[in-house]
Amino acid sequence: MKRKIILDCDPGHDDAVALMMAGIHPSIDLLGVTIVSGNQTLEKNLTNALNICQYLNIDVPVYAGSTRPLVKKPVYAEFIHGKSGLDGPTFDPLVKKPEEKFAPVYIAETLMNSEEKITLVPTGPLTNIALAMRLEPKIVDKIEEIVLMGGSVDSGNITPAAEFNIWVDAEAARIVFESGVKVVMCGLNVTRKLRCFQEIIDRMDKIGNKASTLFKEMMEFYNQTQLSSFGWVGGPLHDPLTIAYLIDNSVLKLNHCHVDVDNNNSVSYGRTNCDFPGIQGLEPTAYVAEDVDIEKFWNIIEECLKLYS
Ligand code: RIB
Ligand code: CA
Repeated sequence: MKRKIILDCDPGHDDAVALMMAGIHPSIDLLGVTIVSGNQTLEKNLTNALNICQYLNIDVPVYAGSTRPLVKKPVYAEFIHGKSGLDGPTFDPLVKKPEEKFAPVYIAETLMNSEEKITLVPTGPLTNIALAMRLEPKIVDKIEEIVLMGGSVDSGNITPAAEFNIWVDAEAARIVFESGVKVVMCGLNVTRKLRCFQEIIDRMDKIGNKASTLFKEMMEFYNQTQLSSFGWVGGPLHDPLTIAYLIDNSVLKLNHCHVDVDNNNSVSYGRTNCDFPGIQGLEPTAYVAEDVDIEKFWNIIEECLKLYS
């Protein structure tokens, strides 16, 4: 049985790999792609998603979402993803067009009109998901689960306390984490273990198809900015872990615990406080990734790229 999903993303190099995987793997029914402001402006992220779909012939509707967080001003990660948001590869002139409908409206309508529950896979700030929940609160009963890349059990990457996706819109993140929907959180504490070293790039490039070549071109740029920004060789491939988990959930070890998203105006704004030991005795609210099978993850990436035809 294929897993029906909506991918909400801000491509962004790692989002682009997640989009490729979701569009290629036969166990996933990618119903639609919704775009949010994050790594770059909404417009640039939208163009990048359309280019990926057009280049790989991924026939899926793409919807533009929020141009900014619920409350804060938008912040971008140009220092990682470049001016275009997907620097590195070049694409033919863009022909594929986005759909007219606003992404949160699409998400709400698709969920309400679906017989089956649908899985939401956000890999950027949670603005669109929060807006859809406020637009139509009944959608929480139609969501299978939310498998997201965001947060961290330990340190952040945009501040010492916070991970970028949550930090850009912690108000939206609170809405999602407190919605009562099953949340699977793939945080930095596990995604930082997924370092895309040159030997990984070479391994994927050997597959020798359009998808593997695109992977190489994207990752070689991404590794340059990861080195210049964080001083490490081999950038962590964050977002694809969500899709890898949907393909084979044994890739993650999860801890069901209470997660509090800090949206106070302080140095810890955007921090996901994950109560692993259950110190506070609060109801668990998310399944937080505690560990990842690194070898299995890269095997899943390779499987997806090899499946491209
Ligand atoms: O902190 C990593 C996350 O922020 C990833 O989703 C990356 O694409 C950026 O959106
Ligand atoms: Ca992202």
